[in-house]
Amino acid sequence: MTFTVAIDGPAAAGKGTISKAVAAHFGFAHLDTGLLYRAVGRRTLDGEAAEVAARTLRPEDLERDDLRTAEVAQAASKVAAIPEVRAALVDFQRAFARRAGGAVLDGRDIGTVICPEAEVKLFVTASAEVRAERRYLELTAKGHVTTLDAVLADVRERDARDADRATAPMKPAEDAVLLDTSAMDIPAALAAAIAQIERKRPGRG
Ligand code: C5P
Repeated sequence: MTFTVAIDGPAAAGKGTISKAVAAHFGFAHLDTGLLYRAVGRRTLDGEAAEVAARTLRPEDLERDDLRTAEVAQAASKVAAIPEVRAALVDFQRAFARRAGGAVLDGRDIGTVICPEAEVKLFVTASAEVRAERRYLELTAKGHVTTLDAVLADVRERDARDADRATAPMKPAEDAVLLDTSAMDIPAALAAAIAQIERKRPGRG
């Protein structure tokens, strides 16, 4: 059985949390596609050309423990605007999406470009202020030193770059279900996502 769930949306909207939990709930594999761009961005910070890094991405690049910083997030969103970088990462993502047993992919262009045929497409969003606050709490809990204003500025800058780029801009697919989590806690957002997937599962009509 192949069954693809595409979860897109802006930075810190809760896509990662929802995707992981949905994958665990249904027994699907999960790919955080942002990690691919973060790993490429990380290698550019180490001095490599983005296109070369994307073409030669290695499993260990995804295992580095410094991919979650604001610096790497910004580098990721810069390399993500380069068409050759995106092209180099397409086949891996598509193969993952169609693996047997079902897959959840979260990112910015999964429902529009990577898997336009996905059985379920969700676009998870929340106000920039709510997203910045969640990311701020997450970062400070991990010991990162930052301010709410700095996180808000980072989120807004990345959203603008991701939405305005010419290649695969962040936007909901026409047939995506919008999930605004501004006023939802995690269990409520997860229940809403699971309900959408249940409606499309084979044999459920
Ligand atoms: O989701 P995450 O914040 O880890 O993504 C980091 C960056 O990678 C995003 O700001 C975006 O520029 C890029 N990205 C993308 N397409 C995806 C996933 C992430 O362009 N499918």
